[in-house]
Amino acid sequence: MCGIIGYTGRTQVLPKLFCGLKSLEYRGYDSAGIAFYDRNAGMMCLKEKGRVSEVEALADDYEKNNNTKIDAFCGIGHTRWATHGKPSDINSHPHCTMRVSIVHNGIIENYAELKDELTGHGYGFVSETDTETAAVLIDRFYCDTGDPVAAVRKASERIQGSYAFGIIFHDRPNEIYAARKDSPLIIAEGSDGNYIASDIPAVLRYTDKYYRLEEGETAVLTPGSVTVIKEDGTRFTPEYCKITWSVDAAEKEGFPHFMLKEIHEEPRAVRDTLSSVLSSDIEAFFRENDFDSINIAACGTAMHAGLICKYMTEKLARVPVNVYIASEFRYQDPILSERDLVIIISQSGETADSVAALRLAKERGARTLAVVNVVGSTAAREADHILMTLAGPEISVASTKAYASQIAVMYVLSVKLALVKGKISDEYASSLISDISDNVPSAIDGIIAQKDSIKALARNFLDCPSVFFVGRGLDCLVASEGSLKLKEITYIHSEAYAAGEMKHGTISLISEGTPVIALATEKDLLLKTLGNVKEVKSRGAYVVLVCNEDDIDSIDRSVCDSIIALPPLRSCFAPFTAIAALQLLSYYTAVLRGCDVDRPRNLAKSVTVE
Ligand code: F6R
Repeated sequence: MCGIIGYTGRTQVLPKLFCGLKSLEYRGYDSAGIAFYDRNAGMMCLKEKGRVSEVEALADDYEKNNNTKIDAFCGIGHTRWATHGKPSDINSHPHCTMRVSIVHNGIIENYAELKDELTGHGYGFVSETDTETAAVLIDRFYCDTGDPVAAVRKASERIQGSYAFGIIFHDRPNEIYAARKDSPLIIAEGSDGNYIASDIPAVLRYTDKYYRLEEGETAVLTPGSVTVIKEDGTRFTPEYCKITWSVDAAEKEGFPHFMLKEIHEEPRAVRDTLSSVLSSDIEAFFRENDFDSINIAACGTAMHAGLICKYMTEKLARVPVNVYIASEFRYQDPILSERDLVIIISQSGETADSVAALRLAKERGARTLAVVNVVGSTAAREADHILMTLAGPEISVASTKAYASQIAVMYVLSVKLALVKGKISDEYASSLISDISDNVPSAIDGIIAQKDSIKALARNFLDCPSVFFVGRGLDCLVASEGSLKLKEITYIHSEAYAAGEMKHGTISLISEGTPVIALATEKDLLLKTLGNVKEVKSRGAYVVLVCNEDDIDSIDRSVCDSIIALPPLRSCFAPFTAIAALQLLSYYTAVLRGCDVDRPRNLAKSVTVE
């Protein structure tokens, strides 16, 4: 949520800032800005409501109007997802005072109190943001101490909330200062200078060496050095980790959108994730720890992956699983002890509510397991145990391949736990594992091969005000994820219902032409679901049936208007193919409606505020 980039080095900074910001736009995209030290004009700030390209145009205009070339080697940039203050030119970052320019991710909770105090000292404010308070506070302490590190640390001591800061002190125009608390920030070392960034894709083009700043650390970057200062004042040169993601992984590679590219990557992501989880020590972990309950906390799509885990684990291992929306976890006051396992599922590993749930679980003595896609993310670092999804960078705001990878982990967890609990035989466990490994990736490919017919189907959804997704059992859980995907990228209202529940109220919303997407992939539940489909069909619904290829012949075709046929797969693994079909349907509907697929309105990737 919000993207930060900064560079100080031996080459021009503007191309680096714009390139970094464009690759971070998925983190927030309602406004953008840069501050840099121009060798001719001194410290400059260009910012605007809108996309990064609009700030790029501002820089071009400046050069044209002044018949000059910007000549700058150190700067910071930001792409914003508004929290305090609407998206506007003034509220965009960087925020600048006489002495400092800063970019900020996170929320300063006590900003009103700090603002009052600083106003009392004669400081003025121009924006509605919490960030400007931090800029003024750092300015004030810099004025008092003349020491940038002391100024940042004193300000940090006064700030309640979360922050990742990139700061330039105007009288030290080749240096960048960075600090973080509860909001991620990396330092990266390149051959021509040093970088700060809120996320790896921003620096992928320039280097593969990064260091994740720890809580409470402050960093000082010059063109040739990086010094990190711990809370106790100890200084050190960071030891860098290697970025394993390739540059291509964060590029569209010929696809019109990241979302389409990422759906195409699902077979690979599932294959890689399975091989990593299957070679992990998860079985030993379950053998060493006998848990009374399993509790999952996650948000959005990741929470939907948790629902699959509940279904499968309760079915196979007969262990109770509670699934919590992470933002509600603390209010439900969960009863936890060291005999309980709390699983956090998070693509980014930085989602504030999921991290807060993880911390609460630890406080209450539970064992914690994080299922994350980003190495070294907060959840990965703080959990007792980690399982990595190997989806690679997911750039599109709508999660697709991360969900497929998360459910792959969930299936393995449920099988391993069932095996350890003695609820299934070795043979059955092996057959499930070989089935998922051998057949799921190719079955997803089978759905991707149907993309043209799914695209044709999408035309039927163009102008509808509302869509319903229904299903029973696992299908009901996939319906929730399908519905979320549709609403977030097409802006069409949609709801997911247990197929049998529609007639308890919601069926009153069905009228002539209302689209209903009915999932009926479980053989045992097929007839019952088809009964529910008939109920909506006879009230005029336009029904798309998602079912197994093998079942088509046995289905009375008058119950539906269109069919998406899933390639043959063991019924319990149908969520992989069904969701790929629903993701493609949402994708093409969004494209046909002219929506910004990868950057849907009001949303941002990696929600680092609660
Ligand atoms: C929806 C989507 C979100 C995320 C949610 C959790 O397409 O992407 O619902 O799943 O914000 O994010 P992570 O997994 O990073 O914790």
